[in-house]
Amino acid sequence: MHFLILGGSGQTGSHVIANILQQEANDHTVTALIRNTSSITSRAGLTLVQGTPSNIDDIRKAFATPRAPDAVIITLAHVKGAVFDERGTTFLTHVARNIAQALRESMAAAERTKVVYMSAMGSGESFPNLNFLMRGLVKVTPLKNQFNDHKGAEDTLLALAREGGNDGKKIVTTIVRPVMLTNTGAAEVESLGENGEKGSFMPKVSRASVARFMVDAALGTEWDDKLTVIANFST
Ligand SMILES: NC(=O)c1ccc[n+]([C@@H]2O[C@H](COP(=O)([O-])OP(=O)(O)OC[C@H]3O[C@@H](n4cnc5c(N)ncnc54)[C@H](OP(=O)(O)O)[C@@H]3O)[C@@H](O)[C@H]2O)c1
Repeated sequence: MHFLILGGSGQTGSHVIANILQQEANDHTVTALIRNTSSITSRAGLTLVQGTPSNIDDIRKAFATPRAPDAVIITLAHVKGAVFDERGTTFLTHVARNIAQALRESMAAAERTKVVYMSAMGSGESFPNLNFLMRGLVKVTPLKNQFNDHKGAEDTLLALAREGGNDGKKIVTTIVRPVMLTNTGAAEVESLGENGEKGSFMPKVSRASVARFMVDAALGTEWDDKLTVIANFST
């Protein structure tokens, strides 16, 4: 399976790349579209493409290097203050639209393309399930812009999955909404429901666990066309 990763130089994205390349019986390959190619160590199975996901031509280049992906994994962070058009479209939403555009153009190459997107607990309908401290914080800080941006990207990708591709080809989307991130190792993960309705007061999940969950979601079918809040067990 060939993966495209957006955000591969980041803390979660680097775990995603390592996880894919460490899979047993591995014939998986990864293309990472990154701004600074020296920020990732080159290794077998990994192709680095210099560019930014906010530029559709760079996404097209990544889609063609060496071929259209079977799965796209997105672990990007919101870019504070950046807008990309007169409607005020923000970074993650803009990138999701670029991915949608590139997929529409390239679907002829693949039977099925999976998009696994890293959002956040607090996006959209999951907001009321944050604890009252977090809700208060969101209301008085720019965090709400981040959640709104994630929601825009989620909606774009879910709509893309409903729309499908050319010639009856299928686009499958998984939206992963992690709770508060930590840097501990990969551990078992549980779903807290679409909107985190099963969560405790301050659940946590490690970036390594999120990465593993996202790769597993791309390889399997359990999370196809689903949205889930995830946390580590016993947190
Ligand atoms: N913190 C939490 O508790 C929490 C909880 C749930 C969800 N989340 C979400 O988790 C996601 C990823 O988190 P993380 O900690 O793994 O992120 P991270 O380490 O900050 O990585 C962010 C990635 O985004 C890229 N990026 C940033 N600005 C960019 C720009 N202007 N153009 C192109 N690429 C850009 C970075 O590339 P460069 O290396 O080129 O900068 C990097 O690859 C975020 O969307 C966040 O909202 C966070």
